[in-house]
Amino acid sequence: MASKRISHPGLIRRIMTAEEATAFISDGMTVGMSGFTGSGYPKAVPTALAARIEAEHGAGRPMRVKIWTGASTGPELDGALAKANGIEFRLPYNSDPIARERINRGEMDYLDMHLSQVAPVAWQGFLGPLDIAVVEVAGIREDGSLIPSSSVGNNKTWLDRAHGVILEVNRWQNPALEGMHDIYYGTALPPHRVPIPLVRPDDRIGDPWFRCDPEKILAIVETDVPDRNAPFSPPDAAAAAIAGHLLEFLIHEVGQGRLPPSLLPLQSGVGNIANAVLAGLLDSPFEDMTAYTEVIQDGMLDLLDTGKLRMASATAFSLSPEAAARINADMGRYRDKMILRPQEISNHPELIRRLGCIAMNGLIEADIYGNVNSTHVMGSRIQNGIGGSGDFARNAYISIFMTPSTAKGGAISAIVPHVSHVDHITQDVQVIVTEQGLADLRGLSPKQRADLVIERCAHPDYRPALRDYYARARAGSYGQQTPMLPGEALAWHQRYIDTGTMRI
Ligand code: COA
Repeated sequence: MASKRISHPGLIRRIMTAEEATAFISDGMTVGMSGFTGSGYPKAVPTALAARIEAEHGAGRPMRVKIWTGASTGPELDGALAKANGIEFRLPYNSDPIARERINRGEMDYLDMHLSQVAPVAWQGFLGPLDIAVVEVAGIREDGSLIPSSSVGNNKTWLDRAHGVILEVNRWQNPALEGMHDIYYGTALPPHRVPIPLVRPDDRIGDPWFRCDPEKILAIVETDVPDRNAPFSPPDAAAAAIAGHLLEFLIHEVGQGRLPPSLLPLQSGVGNIANAVLAGLLDSPFEDMTAYTEVIQDGMLDLLDTGKLRMASATAFSLSPEAAARINADMGRYRDKMILRPQEISNHPELIRRLGCIAMNGLIEADIYGNVNSTHVMGSRIQNGIGGSGDFARNAYISIFMTPSTAKGGAISAIVPHVSHVDHITQDVQVIVTEQGLADLRGLSPKQRADLVIERCAHPDYRPALRDYYARARAGSYGQQTPMLPGEALAWHQRYIDTGTMRI
């Protein structure tokens, strides 16, 4: 018997198994899947599709699909499909280890994009048609509109653009999610674009539901499966030190009158350091804060609970299993303090610039001039992707990047003579923080920046070698705006590849 989650009478007859639903997907198709971090992604159809692909491959028949998502998803989607070698092309952000390996072995094409740009690019059309959307929802209303689940991502665009739609109605998702979302239907391509009417993080400018033509719905699969997010590890000493430096900086900025006492809307990136910073804000003097960000993670729940954070706007939850259970048990209360929006809006440059977000993101390496690499290890191996870091960094009021000063047990310095890949240019990087200290690079020339980055951020073990490189670059005769030794700038990376350490 169909669950109470499907109220549209005509759609009941489209209920089928995940295995049956995969019949609508064939080799070479482009499939837009829901999902953003470990939340709101379809759990049954991708797994069934992976099994079918394995069977097709076993029978000597090629089958691979192109996958578009919101950002990273869960193991049942990226992991299962990558394991089956079923993904020919994928966009945008990925953090699944099996998919990452396939990408780095050259077996899967990966297009890493700014997350705000995925929906507009899908509308521009040069990526080709979107054949099928597979979207998890919390329910289907009587009029056919859809109750979003724990992430919004690009779902609005997939539902609008796809020729056919497969829905997963997940009973695990709390029905009280209804009303939390704000799905804006006012975006367009130029020359028809108009200002987006959002001036405060808590403004609601859209509908609580997705619109979807019931005629396009090919299949409905019922599930009862939890979202899967990795638990956060408790902040280690480095993360706690980074959080401490950052809080000191923010308190100083308020003291100088450059930030209001409630700060400006916070954007917090992914990972344990970001979570440690949020934990640090719990003991800060700031009250009545807001967040205009991409994901709501554990640290934000704690801030909401204490009332220090007044509200949070994002596109998805990115919660540990414990925090997901906590929010699910009390959804009615959290619903009024949170808004989930399409990622086109949560990450929109126009809105980030207008609101004046304080952007705080992780990095893989930074160089002495403040260029930042967020994505590629040793210039060529993708870690995850740029995610929303570029959307926020370029448009933020203050753009902050954070990292431990070393990686791999000290064999790698996160501060290098020159980054091996550039995601954020110096103009988009205003503050760099490591456990060693904080470099406020605003208003500084490249040479002023280099001194500060080396002395404040680099690990003491690597400072002498950085000073030596920089001194010799300054003694060169070719150019003194941004002194560089091109033949040596990436030597540290080559040494790591050759010997397993950047140390001389
Ligand atoms: N060289 C080589 N490897 C490095 C490195 C470096 N300089 N710095 C970090 N790493 C490795 C770590 O060793 C770790 O590898 P492991 O998983 O094999 O142990 C991995 O990168 C993750 O590093 P970690 O220290 O755990 O940091 P993190 O979880 O904070 O992630 C980023 C750091 C940069 C990978 C992550 O912030 C990211 O993907 N950023 C881009 C997207 C983004 O900013 N999104 C938010 C926007 S809203």
